[in-house]
Amino acid sequence: MSENPQADATPAPFPFPDGPMASPPPEFARRRAVCPLSEVTLPTGDRAMVAVKHADIQQIMSDDRRFSRDLSAPDAPRLFHNLLMLEDPTILLNMHGEDHLRLRRILASAFTPRRAEQRRPEIQESIDAVLDEMEQSGRPADLMFFAYKLPTRLTCRMLAIPEEDAEQLLKWVSAWLSFSMPREELDKAAADFNDYVVALTRRRRAEPGDALIDHLISARDVDDRLSEEELVSTIRTLIIGGNETIANSISRMMFTLLRQRDLWETLQKDRSLIPAAIEELLRHNPPGGGATGLMRLATEDVELVSGAGTIRAGQAVFTPLVAAAYDPEAFPEPEQVRFDRPKSPSTMQFGAGRHFCLGVHLARTELELMLTALLDRFPDLRLAKEPEDLRWSDGSYGVTMLELPVVW
Ligand code: HEM
Repeated sequence: MSENPQADATPAPFPFPDGPMASPPPEFARRRAVCPLSEVTLPTGDRAMVAVKHADIQQIMSDDRRFSRDLSAPDAPRLFHNLLMLEDPTILLNMHGEDHLRLRRILASAFTPRRAEQRRPEIQESIDAVLDEMEQSGRPADLMFFAYKLPTRLTCRMLAIPEEDAEQLLKWVSAWLSFSMPREELDKAAADFNDYVVALTRRRRAEPGDALIDHLISARDVDDRLSEEELVSTIRTLIIGGNETIANSISRMMFTLLRQRDLWETLQKDRSLIPAAIEELLRHNPPGGGATGLMRLATEDVELVSGAGTIRAGQAVFTPLVAAAYDPEAFPEPEQVRFDRPKSPSTMQFGAGRHFCLGVHLARTELELMLTALLDRFPDLRLAKEPEDLRWSDGSYGVTMLELPVVW
């Protein structure tokens, strides 16, 4: 690779390789120094720009007028050939403009800070049940396995899904996030997932209750605020959005805390640090790893605030969240975990702009209660394997831990 990758005949392949133990790709730091806006070749062979400075990433993600998430045009660049999550134009993340705002408004009242507060007892009860099960399962226990159980339980309740279906739901979610599964399997998973949600809405219409799913059905049937297809895709979006993110945040957060024991001990002594610790742990070791972020299309020429260059109208730009989180101009000594970092600038791990994570308050509450419960119940929690020996996923959008064996 030449010193300035922008000068290469074929721009470097993206995503860049992660560092050891799924740490941020070292290439981000190199590019920040020599070419903070550069062109890359995506796995599909398409090209896109990649920005690696915090200020630029924040600018791009926040500017919904000049950057669009609608990449549905046949000639728009694509990251992967077979990635359902990015292909489906009907899920919130891939929508733009008025339709996106209309669907967000319908969901907004169910995801306020107040609603997250009200759900605390239910979340606590779910955590207690999950950790009871972990304790009874014996040592070592796979904390990754139990990390999934919390969000799936809560998703099932929100959407009136029988808990015995949770395992199947997670399989569909991982198909949605996989770019390596054969196309026929993906198409089958997508069709089955859709049929499942259609059947779920039918059952719920026959026996309505007072869960979020009922609120969505009523927005469709009584107020005609969304189409039947949008109802089904919104339910799918919530199933996809709320599970992997939480499970991987718990596992990566615990991975950091158990490797750097002083951090665990600090939190043992002072629980008031937990909310700040969660933001910092998400910044330091974000749930999806190096390729997490979304592409956006420039609708006009945009000069970046850092002076890194100009994105031309019609160009796609990728904004890796972990590159923003490791920019030393925003977070000095970014590889250090510090619970006393200032609240600003934003770590952007929940995004920025109109697509800002809808589940942010719920997520923070889940993580805060889970971390508190783990500190209370398992003060001696330790990794049961050397960190270097742990296995990580390959072939999915978002690198995840495949196991997190712990003893206590
Ligand atoms: C620690 C956990 C979580 C993280 C790190 C996270 C992160 C994100 C990020 C980065 C985005 C995209 C923002 C953008 O591009 O500007 C997003 C969007 C979204 N998240 Fe989360 N999320 C988490 C948990 C949740 C939960 C628990 C739910 C729901 C139950 C949820 C629902 C959504 C939805 C629906 C969107 C799409 C919003 C839109 O496009 O308008 N997320 N999240």
